[in-house]
Parts: sequence; structure tokens; C-alpha cells
Amino acid sequence: MAKERIFLSPPHMGGQEQAAIEAVFKSNYIAPLGEAVSGFEADVRAFCGVPYALALSSGTAALHLALRLAGVGPGDRVAASSFTFIASVAPITYLGATPLLIDSEARSWNLDPNLLEQACQEQPIKALVVTHLYGQCADLTAIMAICDRFGVVLIEDAAESLGAQWRGRQSGTFGAFGVYSFNGNKIITTSGGGMLVGHDEKKMAHAAKLATQAREPVAHYEHCEVGYNYRLSNVLGAIGRGQMQVLADRVAQKRAIFSFYQEQLGDLPLHFMPELPGSEGNRWLTTLCIDPKSGVTPQQVRLALEKEQIESRPLWKPMHLQPVFAKMPSRLNGVSETLFERGLCLPSGTAMDTSDLQRVVAAFRACF
Ligand SMILES: Cc1ncc(COP(=O)(O)O)c(C=O)c1O
Repeated sequence: MAKERIFLSPPHMGGQEQAAIEAVFKSNYIAPLGEAVSGFEADVRAFCGVPYALALSSGTAALHLALRLAGVGPGDRVAASSFTFIASVAPITYLGATPLLIDSEARSWNLDPNLLEQACQEQPIKALVVTHLYGQCADLTAIMAICDRFGVVLIEDAAESLGAQWRGRQSGTFGAFGVYSFNGNKIITTSGGGMLVGHDEKKMAHAAKLATQAREPVAHYEHCEVGYNYRLSNVLGAIGRGQMQVLADRVAQKRAIFSFYQEQLGDLPLHFMPELPGSEGNRWLTTLCIDPKSGVTPQQVRLALEKEQIESRPLWKPMHLQPVFAKMPSRLNGVSETLFERGLCLPSGTAMDTSDLQRVVAAFRACF
């Protein structure tokens, strides 16, 4: 019999989502907005301890809006983590600004504050998009101090880190704006969706207006600026409400999966993604680097797992290595390139049971 496929990070519904969708159907508030979206925003505000939250069609849309609210426009320079998914950086170019790609530090795999500081000393930087990669926080204390000193608007790309904490506070709530994603592979999902959170009432009201084609509050359709169609549907808001009920459990499950891999594979020549002191990541994906002296490459492991119907994935290819961003300015130290060469993401779905995890461990160990 063919083995059941183990996916990297598939959706995991909590049970209440379908009932919430049915309630939306009964009310006929399928669209445009409605109580489920407002409730979902209230759930995120309460969980994250942030005053304003706006449910959107994607995390990418939320990043685009955050940059626009930060006043980013043509000719501006916006610093961003290079070691990330393209959605952290692409919206900078939507606004005609130039991304300045900043490498990682080995101690967190996330943005290197020293490189950021050097970049700020050399040129004016309007905003920073810092990614909390794989659910692990970047060094927010150092990064916030630099942003304060140089007048850089801090935007946290917390797409992968919902539920992660820095000094006891939720990731995404430290910057002027924070962004979460509910894409299908994230710790919780609405099948597709995102959330912009922030602290400034006026700016967040402006974000809500921009997300609905910048319609002025009059009966006829009046527009004084150009906006977007970026709001989340009420049906997806219902899924989000159900998922928020299980978010804390999902964080605990992801962390338990990470610990299991660490216990079972810890004797092999590899190291896992670190966690900075004072932070507690959501361990969205368990990620590790294989020591090249072992003679085993991540590619060999990935293909061996694939033969066993187990999905794994290389670490993100840094943005400064992407052909589309090859000409962008950057501040590099080689860290993210090394991580990309040596790293692998292991299956981290919260619906996996112990026998699934053991299957992954056995297939992984067989490569060494
Ligand atoms: C780091 C990062 N930023 C941004 C995004 C974009 O989110 P979305 O897919 O909801 O547009 C994602 C995930 O897809 C991501 O992993």
C-alpha cells in the first residue's frame, strides 16, 4: 500500500470553523464584510494585545499597506531582511522604492542589527521590513533602538511568527505596523488572508479606507486618492475565528514537534535554528543546517525523504541571490548564503502524530 504523504505544514482546522461558516451563510453576510471579520479582528487584537487590527486578503496586501502608511514612495530606500520570502520585499517595489537587502546574523538567522546600523549611518532609510523567520524573533531590542535613533519606521513581517513572543510580548506588536499571514501553510490559516496591526488610530483608519478602494464616506462613490481591493471576505473571517480558538495550542504543538526532532536527531552532525534569549518562537517550521563535514547534503536528504512520501524544503533563497533583485543594494556577510546552502525545513504540521514524526526521523537518520 502506498504510504500516506506527510506534508510540510498543511492546514489544520480546529473543529469550530465549519459551524462559523454556516452561521455566515445563514446570515447571508457572505460579503463584503460582516460580523465574522470584525470578530476575527477583535480576536487578534485580544490575543496580540494591540489596539488596532485590519483583516486583509493576504499578508502581502498588509505589507503593501504598511509601507504606504509609512509614507514610502518613489526614490525612497527601504531596508529589509534578505533572508526571507519574496513577499517581504516585493511590496517595496510596488511603491517605486528601492529595497536595501540586509543579511542575517548567525546567532538568530534573522536580520543582523550591526549591518542595519552601518547602512543607516551611510544613507537615509525610510522604513525597515524585518522578518521573524520561521516563527523566530529577530533581535527586536537592538533593531528598535537603531530605528529610533535614525528615524526609520519599523514594520514587522510577522507572517510566519503569529504567537511568537519577544520579552513576553507578541511579535508584530513592536513596530509602527505588524503583519500576519493566514496563507494555507501558516500556523493558522483562513485558506488565504492576512492582518495588519498597528498603534496609530488615524493611520489604521486610513489603512481601512485604502483597503476598500479609498472610497470617501459619502453615499455616491467619491475618491480623492487611489486605493486597493484588499479586505478579507466574511466567509474567511469565520474560518479565522475558529482558528484563533486553537492558536495557543498550535504554538505548543509546533514547539513540541521541534523538541521531538531535536531529541531524536540531536546526535547527528547538524544544528537547529537558534532562539534568542528572552524570546519564545512559534517554531512554525522546524529548520536545521547539516554540517558539510558529514558529507551529506540537504538536497540528498530532501530527495531521500521525498522517496518516502515526506515533504521537506530548502531554506528560503536569500533575496540578494534572486535574479529579480540582483541589482538591488545590499549589506552582506555571507550568513544567509551559508544557511541556504546547508539548511532544510522538516515537516511541521500540527496534525501529525508520533508515528508520522517517527517516520520522518527514521528516513532522515537513514541518510547518515
Ligand atoms: C515571511 C513572509 N512574508 C510574507 C508572506 C506573505 O503572506 P501571504 O502569502 O499571506 O501574502 C509570507 C507567506 O506567505 C511569508 O512567509
